Amino acid sequence: MNVIFLGPPGAGKGTQAQRICAALNIPQISTGDILRRAIKEQTATGLKAKEYIDAGKLVPDEVIIDIVRDRLAQDDCANGYILDGFPRTVPQAEALEGIAKIDVVVDLDVADEELIARLSGRRVCLNCGATYHVSRLNGETKCASCGEALIQRDDDKAETVLNRLNVYHSQTAPLVDFYQKKGLLKVIDGAQDMDTIFESVMAVVKG
Ligand code: AP5
Repeated sequence: MNVIFLGPPGAGKGTQAQRICAALNIPQISTGDILRRAIKEQTATGLKAKEYIDAGKLVPDEVIIDIVRDRLAQDDCANGYILDGFPRTVPQAEALEGIAKIDVVVDLDVADEELIARLSGRRVCLNCGATYHVSRLNGETKCASCGEALIQRDDDKAETVLNRLNVYHSQTAPLVDFYQKKGLLKVIDGAQDMDTIFESVMAVVKG
């Protein structure tokens, strides 16, 4: 099953993708995580991507499409995967059609006010990609999965969050219509509690 997770920043794509991928033993392909790793390792792609990410803008399509094409060619993708954060523009979606056959697109729908609250309180582990919210950490500063220090992403600062939401509405939201027309779209209320969303997404992904 090849799945796309669509949805605005903070909708819970990463949170749910981690759980679903663990349950189904398929890889989570997060273009955001791939780019953050490249930044940490100071690769040429990472250095180029950093200025876009820090400003809340999208990295150029050609950079991201090459990354995804290479990643989907790897052996662990043979039995399915979740694309988390790709595609994000119509040109990316069109390019993906030449790379892979997608079975379902899950759109996590959440209002902007809730997204801002989630992102401003998010803490992440750059080592294993686990995601938390300060309201549920009880003062804990280390990752429960791997023990690394939790950090606030630079692009989760207030002004950048607003830029990301604007970019989502202008450049990524048109994909809802794109996939609706292809009959692939399943919209799930992303404002529900995480376990309820997990059950709904599992039902969709298992068909
Ligand atoms: P990326 O890392 O993909 O960021 P994003 O899409 O903005 O998504 P987020 O990771 O912010 O949110 P999420 O939906 O995964 O939510 P999460 O589960 O963490 O991309 C970062 C940047 O990289 C982009 O801005 C761009 O520059 C670049 N980039 C990446 N892909 C690209 C592409 N294809 N093209 C061009 N550029 C690209 O949850 C958020 C918070 O809410 C957490 O604290 C979590 O604990 C909490 N939460 C989750 N679910 C719930 C719930 N049900 N109830 C309450 N709280 C919840």
